[in-house]
Amino acid sequence: MTMLKRILLVLVILVVVAQFIRPARTNPPVDPAKRLTMPANVQAIFDRSCRDCHSNETRWPWYTNISPLSWWLVNHVNEGRRELNASVFATYTAKKQSRKLEEVCDQVQHGDMPIGSYTLVHRQAKLSPADVQTLCTWSEQSRSPAR
Ligand code: HEC
Repeated sequence: MTMLKRILLVLVILVVVAQFIRPARTNPPVDPAKRLTMPANVQAIFDRSCRDCHSNETRWPWYTNISPLSWWLVNHVNEGRRELNASVFATYTAKKQSRKLEEVCDQVQHGDMPIGSYTLVHRQAKLSPADVQTLCTWSEQSRSPAR
């Protein structure tokens, strides 16, 4: 067996073994009372560009079950939910809600969200300047000035 064949064989075995190590692709139950409520035009943008990582209503396409890719993708979702989870937004303190809403505008204005690797695959998730404006106007209006 040549060296190249050996390396390929080891790679194939690693990928096969990796399939037995699959992180859980969760979608915890959603209590509508705890949801972050948004006007329809904002909700449409959120659903298209943010929902997969920032809610408990993630769409999990078939390839999210293929390791080692799945390790990376599940991690994005878990981390995204930890930072901002629209499905449990009402459980945040007023201060945290206000801060997260402010972050929404900050993140999209700087082009940090949605994550580049996500928009590479989900082309429709890319935000137009008008989308950014809509999110920022909403974020501004939703934050109570008293907070
Ligand atoms: C592919 C997954 C993914 C998508 C899609 C995504 N995010 Fe994120 N988001 C993350 C991850 C992971 C983090 C935490 C790490 C970081 O800040 O880079 C995060 C962090 C955040 C934070 C918290 C920042 C902070 O410091 O408090 C906000 C706000 C946010 N995202 C908003 C959005 C918005 C708005 C969208 C849609 C326009 C979006 N994200 C789309 C994965 C995602």
